[in-house]
Amino acid sequence: MKAVVYKSPRTVTVENLDDPRIEQPTDVIVKITTTNICGSDLHMYEGRTSAEPEMVMGHENLGVVQDVGQAVSRIAPGDRVSVPFNIACGTCQNCNRGWTSFCLRTNPTDGVDGAAYGYANMGPYRGGQAEYLRVPFADFNLLTLPEGDEHENDFAMLSDIFPTGFHGAALANVRAGDRVAVFGAGPVGLMAAHSSLLRGATEVFVVDKEKDRLRLAADVGAIPIDFGEVDPVEAILEATNGVGTEKGIEAVGYQAHDPTGEEHPELVLDNLVKVVRTAGSIGVVGVYMPEDPGATDDRAKEGRIGFDYGTFFTKGQRMGTGQAPVKRYNRELRDLIIAGRARPSWIVSHELSLDEAPSAYEHFDRRDDGWTKVLLHPAA
Ligand SMILES: NC(=O)c1ccc[n+]([C@@H]2O[C@H](COP(=O)([O-])OP(=O)(O)OC[C@H]3O[C@@H](n4cnc5c(N)ncnc54)[C@H](O)[C@@H]3O)[C@@H](O)[C@H]2O)c1
Ligand SMILES: [Zn+2]
Ligand SMILES: [Zn+2]
Repeated sequence: MKAVVYKSPRTVTVENLDDPRIEQPTDVIVKITTTNICGSDLHMYEGRTSAEPEMVMGHENLGVVQDVGQAVSRIAPGDRVSVPFNIACGTCQNCNRGWTSFCLRTNPTDGVDGAAYGYANMGPYRGGQAEYLRVPFADFNLLTLPEGDEHENDFAMLSDIFPTGFHGAALANVRAGDRVAVFGAGPVGLMAAHSSLLRGATEVFVVDKEKDRLRLAADVGAIPIDFGEVDPVEAILEATNGVGTEKGIEAVGYQAHDPTGEEHPELVLDNLVKVVRTAGSIGVVGVYMPEDPGATDDRAKEGRIGFDYGTFFTKGQRMGTGQAPVKRYNRELRDLIIAGRARPSWIVSHELSLDEAPSAYEHFDRRDDGWTKVLLHPAA
């Protein structure tokens, strides 16, 4: 099969590899119809993770079941399925409590709970930017979808970014009537804004400096704030009579930068502490790393990020963090799509073949104007 392979910083290639096979009786093989490039892939692409050369990329996968192992009973060949990016066993303590993003059994890496496809540190699993994907514990992990190809691009958002944006809003406990500040208008931030509005927020501010992304935020009913033009903290405080928002969502991660492009890993956390009002909550879904050899300051190289914890404490704020447990939300979000209440595909900018992946990575990595979300269709 063809697959997108990570070679070295800023180089991915499309190569021919052996097709995946059923290895465990609980496995399924999925023929991929749509697989997305994610902002998380860019951390690896830029060489800012421990990703090993020859890894197959891709954790946002959708397709049709090709083959099932002997112990699979719920899923059958021909089923159209969304594959959550988390690989979970379904029987450990964390899985039982709904924390499939911290499964205790699927990641053999020392000291790390939770596994994913094609991701640094998240276990030995190939990604789905390929023609076929092996899915472990398939009965537990897969979400079935109506057959056919309706809503393909909306359903493609169910494996990661729509549930991740929704998780950001859930960690921040966004409720009806809340005002919300979302930092980052990448795919995850846009989904966090969409999710906050679905949960009943009255006003959602979205901060970024990429004008095309800010336009998409406005399209879905959020208030765009361009940090290249104004101080986002002042702008949000002014718009809320100096009080701030009830809730805040971090959708940027450790490569946060100032308007000149210089990285400051604490910048967005500091801004959230300032704009969220006393006793408010903050959901952090942007990724932070325990080790980042490429960081600009020595403490951040060891994952020590010096944000304003003193004010955070004094304001009595709460913070929730971590990889999203996709299965907690994907069924309900699927049904909102089918009911016409949610349309996450509004952010899709490009639909390309697998062969076009290397150039798509370049454009998306530069945040070139108009490159918001790239979908690859391996069969195209
Ligand atoms: N927790 C999870 O389960 C999970 C899942 C998917 C992605 N992520 C993470 O979420 C983050 C966002 O993902 P994405 O796909 O949207 O990535 P992205 O890189 O496309 O978007 C990040 C956006 O943040 C903006 N930004 C940079 N500095 C900023 C600042 N100071 N203030 C406001 N905006 C700023 C950038 O301009 C960019 O548009 C990444 O760190 C990604 O790894 C987490
Ligand atoms: Zn992703
Ligand atoms: Zn588990």
